[in-house]
Amino acid sequence: MIEVTGLAKKFKTKRGTVEAVRGIDLTVRPGEIVGFLGPNGAGKTTTLRMLTTLLEPSGGTATVAGADLLRQPGEVRKRIGYVAQTGGTDGACTVSEELITQAELYRLGGAEARERCSKLLVQLDLAGLEDRFVKTLSGGQKRRLDIALGLVHSPRLVFLDEPTTGLDPQSRAYLWTHVRRLRDDLNTTVFLTTHYLDEADALCDRILIIDFGRIVAEGSPEELKHRISGDLVTIELNGDRDPAVALAALDGIEGVRDKTVHGRILRVNVDAGGQQLMGIMRTLDAAGVPIASIQLARPTLDDVFLTLTGRSLRDDSPSPGADQANQEAAGDEGAQSQSGTATGSAR
Ligand SMILES: Nc1ncnc2c1ncn2[C@@H]1O[C@H](COP(=O)(O)OP(=O)(O)O)[C@@H](O)[C@H]1O
Ligand SMILES: [Mg+2]
Repeated sequence: MIEVTGLAKKFKTKRGTVEAVRGIDLTVRPGEIVGFLGPNGAGKTTTLRMLTTLLEPSGGTATVAGADLLRQPGEVRKRIGYVAQTGGTDGACTVSEELITQAELYRLGGAEARERCSKLLVQLDLAGLEDRFVKTLSGGQKRRLDIALGLVHSPRLVFLDEPTTGLDPQSRAYLWTHVRRLRDDLNTTVFLTTHYLDEADALCDRILIIDFGRIVAEGSPEELKHRISGDLVTIELNGDRDPAVALAALDGIEGVRDKTVHGRILRVNVDAGGQQLMGIMRTLDAAGVPIASIQLARPTLDDVFLTLTGRSLRDDSPSPGADQANQEAAGDEGAQSQSGTATGSAR
């Protein structure tokens, strides 16, 4: 559905050149929900704007929904939907006015447009809100309308830029349900960006982690977490048995990567904790090591990001080695990089 090779974007600013995207390769298969996860300023929106023909790449090639990005931009625009980071609705219009206008832009006729719009209203749980002014909608309702606008022409591939940023946790989870439905019920391929770890984890079949314009890791959420750190089993020993006995007992267990002792706490890094937990307990029991408690923790995507970049995605702070021009340009042109309308490509 998407095939990208060496895609790059440099912005010339007063303070110098900003390399927003530094030659990325990626593939998205039909029917997948793929997430582009990275901190603010990583290059997510710039990539999306290139793939939706809104921004000319400085280098690289791409095929999007079967059309060549550079040679057939019109075809690409017809086949995709795009929901911009800031949405594209007009507060002074009603919900149905927005939808019908969008349908007309895609040259759907009167009856067809009305039918399509009422279907979308149901699909995105907006039925009953037809005559409401957009400015009176809640954040979650407005975001669902943004998505409905991106789907008016029934695209096989839809790009969502930070679909849930700014929404409360309940509306976010609700929106995830709708994004999953796009894949499950309509077989739509979804390429979304996010800086939320939980969103990438809960929603995406596959994640590409982007940092400073480069893809630093790729895989399913499980693969990524597993590849980096395995699982962590923390065992609190009981009584005064020498922890060395426990360590020695665990030596023979396959899949145990690493063991450390801190006082009476034993930390064991294993390949697959869920499967090995029982083996570990039995082995310790057989060796006569009494256990006070045992805990299994899975690594999070944040551990993955931390391992790869040396900083946490949670604090979302720029790395100490960040390129100065990149940092400063964020203030300069940030607004422009986030502009665009829902399916801005079509307008
Ligand atoms: N129009 C522009 N002019 C100059 N710099 C830009 C422009 N758009 C984006 N950038 C810079 O490119 C980098 C990536 O931005 P962006 O793609 O918006 O990141 P993200 O969406 O991941 O937060 C940032 O350093 C940003 O300041
Ligand atoms: Mg962005």
